[in-house]
Amino acid sequence: MDTSWIVEAAQSYDRVAVPYVAVVRDGLNHLPFESSLVNYFVEQVKATGGGLVIDLGCGPGLLSRYLASLGLSVLGVDVSPEMLRIAGGYNPGQRFIEASLTEVPVPDGSAAGVFCWYVMHHVPDEDLGQSFAEIARVLRPGGQLMIGGHVGDSAYVKTEGYGGLPMNVLFARRSITAYAELVRGASLVVDATIDLGPAQPSVAAIRLAHKTL
Ligand SMILES: C[S@@+](CC[C@H](N)C(=O)[O-])C[C@H]1O[C@@H](n2cnc3c(N)ncnc32)[C@H](O)[C@@H]1O
Repeated sequence: MDTSWIVEAAQSYDRVAVPYVAVVRDGLNHLPFESSLVNYFVEQVKATGGGLVIDLGCGPGLLSRYLASLGLSVLGVDVSPEMLRIAGGYNPGQRFIEASLTEVPVPDGSAAGVFCWYVMHHVPDEDLGQSFAEIARVLRPGGQLMIGGHVGDSAYVKTEGYGGLPMNVLFARRSITAYAELVRGASLVVDATIDLGPAQPSVAAIRLAHKTL
């Protein structure tokens, strides 16, 4: 695998981490629909026995904090050391590790849930299969998956980001169907694909899935 995009993503998000937090600081506070779906994911994790939930591409850890506030044990994973430093501040005592979602350093079947929020648009087409296979590997049987993020049909390289600072990351919008196929391709069961558009300013969707027992 050509890992140069992972290095570029880490450097890009290191640069924009502080202005990024200013944009997402409110977390899910003003997003009642999304938060109700995240709450559903949390309930599903608890109903299937609870345990470790990995926040994949956790960024500044605001969603990690939300999940933990609902009683989950969360491990944050991100490639950006600066994001992880900020996440540690928002989540004292919680575990955060620097790693790519393409190779998560946890044993097979160790996660009761994987939560991945606005990250997959950065993954190049050729590494999507490996990324979903890695999610399936870390989930235990019965484990729950929730993915939220941009959808559509376009792709460009984002060269300027939060605070007008330079970035070099892929911004790919793929169809909900394409993501559902990736989930199924990793032998996971798709429970729901929820289109958040078109009222949302940034067309987005949520995918809920689980690993069979
Ligand atoms: C748009 S931010 C979303 C952060 C967080 N999930 C949130 O909702 O606030 C994208 C995050 O994905 C991380 N990221 C990009 N490529 C990654 C990879 N290969 N593995 C893990 N994290 C990655 C970035 O460092 C950044 O923190």
